Amino acid sequence: MSILITGGSGYIGSHTVVELLSNNEDIIIVDNFSNSNKVSLDRIKQITNKEFKFYNVDCTDEKELEKVFKENNIESIIHFAAYKAVGESVYEPLKYYINNINSTLNILNLMKKYDVKNFVFSSSATVYGNPHKFPITEDFPLSTTNPYGATKLMIEDILKDIAKVDKSFNVAILRYFNPVGAHISGLIGEDPNGIPNNLMPYISQVAVGNLEKLNVFGGDYDTHDGTGVRDYIHVVDLAIGHVKALEKLRTNCGLVIYNLGTGNGYSVLDMVKAFEDASAKKVNYQIVARREGDVPMCYADSTKANKELGWKAKFGLKEMCEDTWRWQSKNPNGYR
Ligand code: UFG
Repeated sequence: MSILITGGSGYIGSHTVVELLSNNEDIIIVDNFSNSNKVSLDRIKQITNKEFKFYNVDCTDEKELEKVFKENNIESIIHFAAYKAVGESVYEPLKYYINNINSTLNILNLMKKYDVKNFVFSSSATVYGNPHKFPITEDFPLSTTNPYGATKLMIEDILKDIAKVDKSFNVAILRYFNPVGAHISGLIGEDPNGIPNNLMPYISQVAVGNLEKLNVFGGDYDTHDGTGVRDYIHVVDLAIGHVKALEKLRTNCGLVIYNLGTGNGYSVLDMVKAFEDASAKKVNYQIVARREGDVPMCYADSTKANKELGWKAKFGLKEMCEDTWRWQSKNPNGYR
């Protein structure tokens, strides 16, 4: 029996594949490299010394995707493949709705047809909208502020509807906080197309000399130093969270929802400082206006994942920055 990983060549996907292969799982990756690079697949093999099956398929193409289900004996699916740029989703909402929703519907439809029962879904802390209380627990009210977030919330609702009527359907909704860091080998890591939207890849590209300076969006938030606070989580911790979620699904648990974060909130300037310490490089920055749609603060209560999955983030800020820097300095232009 195999585990199908959609988006397995991407940032979180590739790290999760490494953890699963290390656990001797049988892996099939589906990816169309729309926001990833095939070099990452060679690097996964280099790290693990293991093989896996690969299909270059767009999950919105149900016919092509069905071949993967036909040719393999799939036990579980981890669905990473999705568009994820918040800002772009505001300007191109249809692109996001069509891609993120259709790909998931196709997979769910094929799961039904081929009797596959276990599904792990990449959700996001974005479904908490602008949270009013911290830390955030899974029972907080849900809302969204952009089309990207709306696709995550819609898919959560679709999964809840299915789980309501199909008692044999096991689904883990994982709400990620802010993934950063890279595999300790420095062989795989985050490789955004063009200028990064997210903080950590931006900082690391300033440190490596690809970008001149960081724009810090807002210095007047009600936080300890005025800059935005987030719950940064090492991508390897996140990957291990998926391994644990899969184990949970195998106990026939039905629908479960977990926050995956560390519970610590760090500001933008905390991150700049920690990165400078880890890299021994100066990160030039300037404080500019707030970015539209940003919330002042966001950090998780991950007690539930700790209790029910036996999962807890083990890497701290230092490792997050050191591992990001190892990846960035060994691969100044990412996989290119
Ligand atoms: N920031 C800067 N300058 C930059 C980039 C970011 O100051 O160049 C700041 C932001 O204002 C924010 C913090 O750094 O305070 C983190 O920003 P990111 O863009 O890295 O992450 P977000 O918290 O905005 O978004 C992330 C994911 C989304 C997800 C969201 C949910 O990228 O996919 O978390 O919490 F929806």
